[in-house]
This record gives sequence, structure tokens and C-alpha cells, in this order.
Amino acid sequence: MAQQDQIIGSSPALLDMMDQISRAARLDKPMLVVGERGTGKEMIASRLHFLSKRWNKNFQKMNCAALTQSLLESELFGYEPGAFTGATKKRAGRFEAADEGSLFLDEIGTMSMAAQEKLLRVIEYGEFERVGGTDTITIDVRIVAATNIDLPSAADKGEFRHDLLDRLAFDVITVPPLRERTEDIPLLAAHFGMQMARELEWLRFPGFTADAMDEMLTYAWPGNIRELKNVVERAVYRAWDGEEPLSDIVFDPFESPFRPTSPLRKPENNSATDVASPPETAQKPAVPTKPYCLRTEVKSVEKTLLTNALETNRFNQRATAEFLNLSYDQLRHALKKQEITV
Ligand SMILES: Nc1ncnc2c1ncn2[C@@H]1O[C@H](COP(=O)(O)OP(=O)(O)OP(=O)(O)O)[C@@H](O)[C@H]1O
Ligand SMILES: [Mg+2]
Repeated sequence: MAQQDQIIGSSPALLDMMDQISRAARLDKPMLVVGERGTGKEMIASRLHFLSKRWNKNFQKMNCAALTQSLLESELFGYEPGAFTGATKKRAGRFEAADEGSLFLDEIGTMSMAAQEKLLRVIEYGEFERVGGTDTITIDVRIVAATNIDLPSAADKGEFRHDLLDRLAFDVITVPPLRERTEDIPLLAAHFGMQMARELEWLRFPGFTADAMDEMLTYAWPGNIRELKNVVERAVYRAWDGEEPLSDIVFDPFESPFRPTSPLRKPENNSATDVASPPETAQKPAVPTKPYCLRTEVKSVEKTLLTNALETNRFNQRATAEFLNLSYDQLRHALKKQEITV
């Protein structure tokens, strides 16, 4: 695998998963990779292929959500001339291209029932027909599927075939979200930071300040590793040079005093000025007359504002977040940083 494909991490949750991947890779059975967005599902699928005996054959990837259902079927299974308007020549699909190798089916939960039925037959007998064709094609493909939805409940609701789920899920690799393996954050941050520093031709990567690392360790990472990668790369590229440890961590690149407010994001009956200005009691905090530590004072004002907002909203965190014009995750992060437990 290429350098950038290295799976980084040393948390027990990640190491357990790596063990499971190594064992699963050797089998020729379908595998299901389940996890929140940005947790590394595609990386895992590729590792399953490259650690298998099929490693030197084709590894095909297909995102099932990227195409309309009829296009998806012809992309996966190929088509015969005349199958639909514009199909002048026959075309092999991804299954044929992946023969003797592996096929990664991403976002499998979005697949239509018709395509699911065809997939079931390929898994069971290695057989299918091209769209608009009658000849049966036989192939030998290992399927790795991924999803970020709960397929058993989708199957219970009739949105996914139970029989397909049983066959796909010979074993399920569940990728832990980043907030459940915070030990990996410093390693991943250093890895992505070094990559970006190299790209910018810095002589070295100076690392992060303790406060910046602390912010990253307490953040909830709803977008998981992809989000961490973006945050780190942004911190590196926004830094002046590679001399000082990085201190400026921006989780939300849209954050700006000039951000246009959308009516949907504002609580009802509030004008733009209401959202922008702090409550009256907080407008003039007692200002020390002697020299003081700005950061400590700001922190204490922030704590008072957060506590007041929570009380006003009867400790309902979603309402508090809206009240403060923050996202829920930003509020959680702020509360954690201030050690306020709700
Ligand atoms: N353990 C890891 N070590 C290093 N890089 C990682 C790791 N996990 C994920 N990444 C990187 O994070 C990014 C997201 O990973 P990937 O695309 O595999 O996630 P995903 O689960 O498929 O996301 P989505 O559900 O949004 O499709 C990629 O750039 C990948 O290289
Ligand atoms: Mg993916």
C-alpha cells in the first residue's frame, strides 16, 4: 500500500480491529464494514483486499449512492447493446472488472431492491446477467460492503433484504468513532500535520501547543478522522511558518463574524442583532483595574455566559446551543473545556 494509506493508531479499539481485519482478509467471504462517516471504512476495505490472496488482482470501488439506481445496475453488471437508449455497444461492469479480485460496495444501504436481488445471486452462485442480456456470466469476486446506517433496522423496516444482509455479514467490522479512541488523536494529528508541512516545504513540523492539543482531545469529532485531517491541515496552512507550535485550531471554517445568517439557523422572532449581541448583563463584565491575565478573565466570562444560558434553557443542551448560536457539538466542546457537567 502507498504511504498515505497507512492506518495510524495504537488505541486498544483500533488494534483489536486491525487484528480482526488481518484474520478476515484471509477468508474469501463477504465482509461488511460499518461505521460513522469519516472513520476509515474505505481504507479498511482496501486493507482487506491488499492483505488477501487476491492482493495482486483488481480492487474495484463503487459508491452505490453516487448513481441513480438504473445507472448503478448497468455500472455494476454491465449491459448489452440495446439495453437502453444510447447503449450501442456491450459493456462489462464492475463485477467483471473485479474478477478474481475484490469489489468494494460503499453505501450499500442505498441500493435498490432490484440490485440487491442481483447481488444476492452473485454472492450465492457467482452468477449474473448483464442489463438487457440473457447470457449468464460467471465470476469470482470477493465483496466488501460498507455502510454508515444500521442495516438490521433497515431490514426490519423492509428497506434492505434480510437474506442479503445474512450473506453480506459473514463478519462485521465495526469501526470505532474517533471520540471513542482519543489516544489516537495525537498520533493522527502528527501524521497529518507532517504530511501537510512536507507539502508546504517546511523544514520541520513544530507540533501543537498543549492548549491546541487539549482542544482536539476534547472535541467530539462528528466527522471523525476525515474531519481531524481537515482541521490539522487547516491549522498548518494557516500558520505563518513552521517555527512555532501550532496554536490556532479552527473546527468550523465557516465561523466568521461576517457569516451570513440563514433564517433557518436563527431562533424565531430574533433579528440578526439579537443573535449577534450578548445578553445585557454580560455586556459590561467587571473589568479589573490592575494587570491581569486576559485568557483567565475571558475563560471566566465564558463560563458565566454558558452557565446562565444553560439555566435559561432549563439545561436543555440543544436549546442552549441554539440560544448561543452554536452548533450542538460546539456547545458540547465549550462545556467540556470549561469542565461544566450537565
Ligand atoms: N486510521 C487511519 N489512519 C490514517 N488515516 C486515516 C485513518 N482512518 C481514516 N483515515 C483517513 O481519513 C479519511 C477518511 O477515511 P475513509 O474515506 O476511509 O472514511 P469512510 O469511513 O469511508 O468515510 P465516508 O463514510 O465519509 O465515506 C481518508 O483521508 C483516510 O485516508
Ligand atoms: Mg467512504
